[in-house]
Amino acid sequence: MKTIIEPFRIKMVEPIKLTTREQRAQFMQAANYNPFLLRAEDVVIDLLTDSGTSAMSAEAWGAMMRGDESYAGARSWYRFRDTVKDIFGFEQVIPTHQGRAAESILFGVMVNADSIVPNNTHFDTTRANIEFNHGTALDLPCAEASDLESDYPFKGNMDIAALEKLVAAEGPERIPLIMVTVTNNSGGGQPVSMANIREISRIARGAGIPFYIDACRFAENGHFIKRREAEFKDVSSIDIAREMFSYADGCTMSAKKDAFANIGGFLCTNDADLAHRERNILILTEGFPTYGGLAGRDLEAIAVGLREILDEDYLDYRLLSTRYVVEHLRELGIPVVVPAGGHAVYLDARRFLPHIEPLQYPGQSLAVELYLEAGVRGVEIGTVMFGSDPHTGEEKPARLDLVRLAIPRRVYTQSHMDYVVEGINLVWERRKDIRGMRIVKAPQFLRHFTAVFDWI
Ligand code: F0G
Repeated sequence: MKTIIEPFRIKMVEPIKLTTREQRAQFMQAANYNPFLLRAEDVVIDLLTDSGTSAMSAEAWGAMMRGDESYAGARSWYRFRDTVKDIFGFEQVIPTHQGRAAESILFGVMVNADSIVPNNTHFDTTRANIEFNHGTALDLPCAEASDLESDYPFKGNMDIAALEKLVAAEGPERIPLIMVTVTNNSGGGQPVSMANIREISRIARGAGIPFYIDACRFAENGHFIKRREAEFKDVSSIDIAREMFSYADGCTMSAKKDAFANIGGFLCTNDADLAHRERNILILTEGFPTYGGLAGRDLEAIAVGLREILDEDYLDYRLLSTRYVVEHLRELGIPVVVPAGGHAVYLDARRFLPHIEPLQYPGQSLAVELYLEAGVRGVEIGTVMFGSDPHTGEEKPARLDLVRLAIPRRVYTQSHMDYVVEGINLVWERRKDIRGMRIVKAPQFLRHFTAVFDWI
């Protein structure tokens, strides 16, 4: 059969409220042209994030009923810990309420004002947690990452030569850890190859620097490895994951992504002393080491989700359904980042709206227009998000102006995606009439969440 189907059927549904263009114009004006400030129920297709928005399985809901809510040493904790150890292979597992809590604990113990932490591309919470500890977060994406139109298969890779140079110059004295983010969210959801991970590990181990993986989308990354790196074509998802993590000394994880959970995360390491210090902070900020800010039922859901995410039919469907949207947009001539990543579709707002200057926020205009046209909510990843220096207030264009349409796992069907493609195309057809935006009011830090906009 050539038709790819969603490899699940629907047992429980949530109605979508359909709205008219007039209603959406009112909702968007009331939200000050910032999609973050819309009410979710006024959104037809919500592609703001794939984080915490997945549909859980009957199996996971069933497991939640069995959650052991004992304060210490609950059955659910052991189930969670053993599942994490089996897949990720690290000796020490520290549960947290979500990914950024794991980052906060890790960088709290490892980073100081002299520290430089390289990554392929830091996600914004990773960067912010390093900077909060007065360290420097350094992005070292591979050269191929900057060509949005090339079909290079591993655009998430780290620039190995640049890493080698940095390590030679600064050494373990200034580099407390090296990180790599799989898939590279801020770089378009692009995968990192096993070959690249091996190289990073070789450099890190050679210099005695711990190597950590930001593992949020590890299963999607593993499946790209399976499909694109010949050596892995017959290797199972779990063995690909095990090999990937075998090269690392620890990881941070948001279970809100590749564990299908609505909340949760963890931090892993093989270093027992480090884990001891991390658990001391955990108790202060998250909770006892056998629940770390989560209910027993959450630990159960994560344990089930981590196994389910490694199902190869699911992973085939996941990567193909994202590619489905990208290919359709490409056929229509709509500028989109290629090749398709795992969890999201990224529209290139600068090429979509070339008549709008970066400082008039083409990504924001496009995100707003998509909502007005079709009720689709995406997020600007560009000059609004990155263009302002929080210390000086100085504005300059970000490297890229993109709109991210992140696809929640197992939530929307192919006809929902056809609707999204049609909506984008209707905006594309009237692109010449679309105006830029200005910021009326914005806070100093992380301004994209709450800024107030208006049309120019
Ligand atoms: N690392 C990466 C690569 C992420 O994408 C995220 C979250 C985090 C860390 C933090 O995890 O949200 O559980 O605290 N990304 C979400 C997104 C928010 O929409 O891309 P968290």
